[in-house]
Amino acid sequence: CGIVGYVGHRPALDVVLGGLRRMEYRGYDSAGIAVLDGGELTVERKAGRLANLEAQLDKVGRETMSGTAGMGHTRWATHGAPIDRNSHPHRDTTQRVAVVHNGIIENFAGLRAELEADGVEMASDTDSETAAHLVARAYTDGDTKGDLAASVAAVCRRLEGAFTLVVTHADEPDTIVAARRSSPLVVGVGEGEHFVASDVAAFIEHTREAVELGQDQLVVITREGYEVTDFHGDAAQAKPFTVDWDLSAAEKGGHEYFMLKEIEEQPEALANTLRGHFESGRIILDEQRISDQDLRDVDKVFVVACGSAYHSGLVAKYAIEHWTRLPVEVELASEFRYRDPVLDRDTLVVAVSQSGETADTLEAVRHAREQKARVLAVCNTNGAQIPRESDAVLYTHAGPEIGVASTKAFLAQIAANYLVGLALAQARGTKYPDEVAREFAELEAMPAAVRKVLSTVEQTRDLGRRIADSRAVLFLGRHVGFPVALEGALKLKELAYMHAEGFAAGELKHGPIALIEEGLPVVVVMPSPKGRAVLHSKLVSNISEIQARGARTIVIAEEGDETVRPFADELIEVPAVPTLLQPLVSTVPLQVLAAEIARARGYDVDKPRNLAKSVTVE
Ligand code: G6P
Repeated sequence: CGIVGYVGHRPALDVVLGGLRRMEYRGYDSAGIAVLDGGELTVERKAGRLANLEAQLDKVGRETMSGTAGMGHTRWATHGAPIDRNSHPHRDTTQRVAVVHNGIIENFAGLRAELEADGVEMASDTDSETAAHLVARAYTDGDTKGDLAASVAAVCRRLEGAFTLVVTHADEPDTIVAARRSSPLVVGVGEGEHFVASDVAAFIEHTREAVELGQDQLVVITREGYEVTDFHGDAAQAKPFTVDWDLSAAEKGGHEYFMLKEIEEQPEALANTLRGHFESGRIILDEQRISDQDLRDVDKVFVVACGSAYHSGLVAKYAIEHWTRLPVEVELASEFRYRDPVLDRDTLVVAVSQSGETADTLEAVRHAREQKARVLAVCNTNGAQIPRESDAVLYTHAGPEIGVASTKAFLAQIAANYLVGLALAQARGTKYPDEVAREFAELEAMPAAVRKVLSTVEQTRDLGRRIADSRAVLFLGRHVGFPVALEGALKLKELAYMHAEGFAAGELKHGPIALIEEGLPVVVVMPSPKGRAVLHSKLVSNISEIQARGARTIVIAEEGDETVRPFADELIEVPAVPTLLQPLVSTVPLQVLAAEIARARGYDVDKPRNLAKSVTVE
């Protein structure tokens, strides 16, 4: 989501709307705005794109929202469907407090129950609304009474999860309080005006002086200044910086393309996908309209998807079969529907789709349901058609993905598919609760591993520039490295318009080896020498065969893997992680490689020719 807050001398409505326009890429499920005028708090909000909110403002008359303090929100739905009443800002029952929120409040179910037991009637299905009621209560009671900053700090101490909150109270009309845990928050420092926003794009037309808030920090902005504290009210240090990006780079976080920003966001996308899906020792789905018994009865799994989402299914097959002992077939959605697959009520069809609206996948879902199969959607878009027509849903929470070629949504899909595997293992009892907990903990270590890969991509970029004029590139892998090879080749085709093929390394000798010629770059995704020793040594001999025939070998291998070194013309190291999780680290250099080759060839990385982000025709 994108959030913005303002206190100054200009009409807040204009400033906030301008900021929302710049941040609309962060979420376009709904938009809303609150303006404070003296002791009056006015709120307008509307589902859909920002244009819908602007139309509504024209209808009610923009003059009803005068005032020089305000805030706004563009939403990417997590809890609660993208409809008017779930749009931000949310208010408490007295309508004196308004809150916008970005992130996920993990313990919201408990907080909501506590508020309802106290007689509070919820006006939305969101986790965010609880924050508005809690702040209102803190402001009227106890030692935080009459102190908005202290009230917000007290509420933050109770919240679990990731959040940025911006809060106003009609009783403190010249103050805006914002707090950050995990989700980004920056302060814009102007003359006689101050801003808070999820990124600098929201305010750089007004000021280039910014301050980045740290983890668990809170800021109070007024016309005259700003003050940063921790959640206990003690003064804290935040990092000032000057923005030297132009407007268009600003919304890309300083990157040239959204895709490059999205590659960087992968640790966060993974963490957000895992967040809230394991509670009290159990894997939790977001929506479940079938019984636990139905899940237990599943005797066969199909994963249906297209493009990168299909590759995420190919990766997950290894884990789901291993954990659940259920047969798993992974199929392109466009093929599945038309070949009379064997389905019945004990078949689980997992439909994986970032957009939730891909026509091929949607038709596959409809076909599966007609045949009485159960459908579980793995989706990045709350309330999209595919999750709506499914029996259960697990959302990936990667946030909006603007680059047409999938990156962070792909990694999040792999993680989510693993959660589906663990949910099935838990339902069927093929894994003990402590084993499920251990697998989940290993997943939780992955954002840090991906961050480590990201810290070393400069070498991969350099390599990309050096091989950018190759005619073709081959990708090889075994086991979970095979779908990674397919994804690496797909990225290169999509972005660099280069002939690229992924193969199972063992198949090489059965045909593709005929393609090897002097200087042809071949990317090899190695398994761990410890985790998969047998496969590792087989792959080493595959590499030596192609190297002997003149290929230029580019090897993605685990750190410290010495045996592969003599066969690697170029070596890209990734951290050691459990075998099944390796695709989460080994895919990242392949994304970077494809993007860099495309840039070197002068192509638009975000909008490859002939491709669309979501394809709504079959
Ligand atoms: C399009 C995109 C691909 C994407 C595929 C599936 O072809 O260009 O990047 O992987 O659709 O999209 P979905 O939204 O269903 O995951």
